[in-house]
Amino acid sequence: MKTIGVLTSGGDAPGMNAAIRAVVRSAIYYGCKVYGINRGYKGLLEEDLEEMNLSSVGDIIQRGGTVLKSSRCEEFKTEEGRLKGVKILKKYKIDCLVVIGGDGSFNGANKLSEMGFPAIGIPGTIDNDLEYTDYTIGFDTAMNTVIDAISKIRDTSSSHERVNIVEVMGRHCGDLALYSGIAGGAETIIVPEMEISSDEITQRLKTTQKRGKRHSIIVMAEGVEKIGSANDLKKKLTEEAGADVRVTVLGHVQRGGSPTAFDRILASRLGSRAVELLLDGKSARVVGIRDNQIIDMDIQEALSMKKTFKKDLYEMAKVLSI
Ligand code: F6P
Repeated sequence: MKTIGVLTSGGDAPGMNAAIRAVVRSAIYYGCKVYGINRGYKGLLEEDLEEMNLSSVGDIIQRGGTVLKSSRCEEFKTEEGRLKGVKILKKYKIDCLVVIGGDGSFNGANKLSEMGFPAIGIPGTIDNDLEYTDYTIGFDTAMNTVIDAISKIRDTSSSHERVNIVEVMGRHCGDLALYSGIAGGAETIIVPEMEISSDEITQRLKTTQKRGKRHSIIVMAEGVEKIGSANDLKKKLTEEAGADVRVTVLGHVQRGGSPTAFDRILASRLGSRAVELLLDGKSARVVGIRDNQIIDMDIQEALSMKKTFKKDLYEMAKVLSI
C-alpha cells in the first residue's frame, strides 16, 4: 500500500479543492493512505500534516480557496530546507507527493524528484501561465469573475459616459486580460506580451470618441510595465483625450469564489491522473490538458517551455473593437 502526500502551494486558485478531493478519493479507491499537508511546503517543514479520509474532502468541490491552505516558502528553496522536508515525509512513511500549484511550486516538486523523492505536479493558478497545458485550474473561474466585474462596470461606464480602466491579475502573463477582455467586449486590451504605446491608446480613444462613442472599457494586465500604471494611463487619457476616467483594480477578488464547472471537471480529471501516475511508479511528471485530452509530461521539460501568447486572439480583439 502506497502513502501519498498532497499539498497546495503558491497563490490559491478556485478548483484546488476539487483537485484535492480527486487526489484523496482516487488514492483511497486504489487502497492508498493519504496525508494532507497544510500550508504548502511551509507546513511540511513545520510538520503540519494529517491523514485524510473520504469525508475530509466531502462538501468541498464547490468551495473556492484551498482547505489545505497555501503559502509561498523561501526555506524550501534551499537544499537544507528540502532535506528537512524529505526527512519529515519519510518519518510519516509518505512514498510520494502531489503538488498543486504554479511554476514556483513545480520547481519545488522538481527538486524533490531530483533528490529521489517521487513527486507529481497539478497546475493550479489563475494566471494560465504554463505553456505545456492549455488551461490551469482556476483560470476559467477567475476569467468569469473578471467578466462579471466588467459587465457591472460597463453599466456605470455607460451611464456616466466614462472611460473605465480595469486592472486584472496574471503576473507576467496576459491571458486573463486577453480572454476576459474579449468576453467582456473591451475596447482596448493591454498585455505585457504586446507592444502598445500610451499614445496609441489615446489615439484609439479619440477615434472612438469621434464616431460618437462616449464610454469605453480598457482591460489592463497587472504585468504591463512599459506604459506605467493604470493611474498613469488615466492621467494621460484625461489630459490628452479630455476623458472622464476611473480605474478599478480588481485584485484578490479574482482569486476567490466557487469554481466553475470547467474548473471542477478539469481539477477532477487532473487529480485522478496524478494518482494513477504515482501508482504506475512515475515521478517528476506534471499533468495538464491539451485539446481536451489529459496529458502528462516531464516536469523539467514543462518548466523549460516558454509561454506563447495567442497573438491571433489579440489581433481579433482589435478588429472587433474598432
Ligand atoms: O499567481 C497568482 C497571483 O494571483 C498573480 O496573478 C498575482 O500577481 C499574485 O498571485 C498576487 O500574489 P499575492 O496573493 O501574494 O498578493
